Amino acid sequence: LRHLLTIEGLPQALLSEILDTAESLSSVGESTIKKVPLLRGRTVMNLFFEASTRTRTTFELAAKRLSADVLNIQASSSSTTKGETLLDTLATLQAMQVDMFVVRHDASGAAHFFAQHATPGVAILNAGDGRHAHPTQALLDMFTIRRHRPDFGQLKVAIIGDILHSRVARSDIHALRILGAREIRVIGPRTLIPTGIEAMGAAPYHDLDAGLDDVDVVMLLRLQRERMSGYFLASPGEFHRLYGLTQARLDRLKPEALVMHPGPINRGVEIEGDVAYGPRSLILQQVEHGIAVRMAVMAMILGARGSTAAGLRDSAQ
Ligand code: CP
Repeated sequence: LRHLLTIEGLPQALLSEILDTAESLSSVGESTIKKVPLLRGRTVMNLFFEASTRTRTTFELAAKRLSADVLNIQASSSSTTKGETLLDTLATLQAMQVDMFVVRHDASGAAHFFAQHATPGVAILNAGDGRHAHPTQALLDMFTIRRHRPDFGQLKVAIIGDILHSRVARSDIHALRILGAREIRVIGPRTLIPTGIEAMGAAPYHDLDAGLDDVDVVMLLRLQRERMSGYFLASPGEFHRLYGLTQARLDRLKPEALVMHPGPINRGVEIEGDVAYGPRSLILQQVEHGIAVRMAVMAMILGARGSTAAGLRDSAQ
């Protein structure tokens, strides 16, 4: 693994190794072990051209817990606002001997562009590109599911809401397929489910209650209005009535069904606030697991190329 740009096409063994490595590193920072030296002397740059709360901060924490030096650049305060191109920005930052760039951009393909133009030896991690991919979100989602339901072959998973504009939905569908999920459903209005979704291995549903029947995991998505071009006309209230996860709908799920959301949530639209932070919600666990999963990816790419999960576990102990 030189870069992490997408989940699509990754071998099952690699996904499992990343999740195992994240498990090994999950106690770092929580216990007496505050840091491990896997990335000592390495420099990680978070380069965010789009807003983020969870991804940017957990990447920063993850890099610090691996003992890396970390720099953060927000596009809104960078010289891209003065007309500097992506290519010139990359060349400038590479001159500072950065080992890894964590890139978020609103254009699909931006992380691939960086990877194509990066100096050999410099790694690119995709922290979300347009509607294309958000690989570390999918990995932390799989990590969270696996903690509660280790047998993916038994799982029926429903992803609800704005599938069309969601990089998280695409990456989660790829990850669930690779890990052998029994059934993947996508639920939403026709305008928000991409045509041809069946070819990705997901079954479309337009009726929420039918789609939720007998599922084990429910993943909610917000309406990504920043990526819409004005053609989705439902009001937030109407969307909530048709597709929102309410307490009443939660009560009709299997008692052991899990509720997930990548965040940020829009309370009262795709999910009721009390459900989002209720006892069946894993939303804050997802945030927490983002640190261990991002540590694992960075360590496997930069700090311990060719190492095994067992080797990393020894480093963390
Ligand atoms: N889930 C996620 O990507 O959240 P942020 O936009 O806050 O990083």
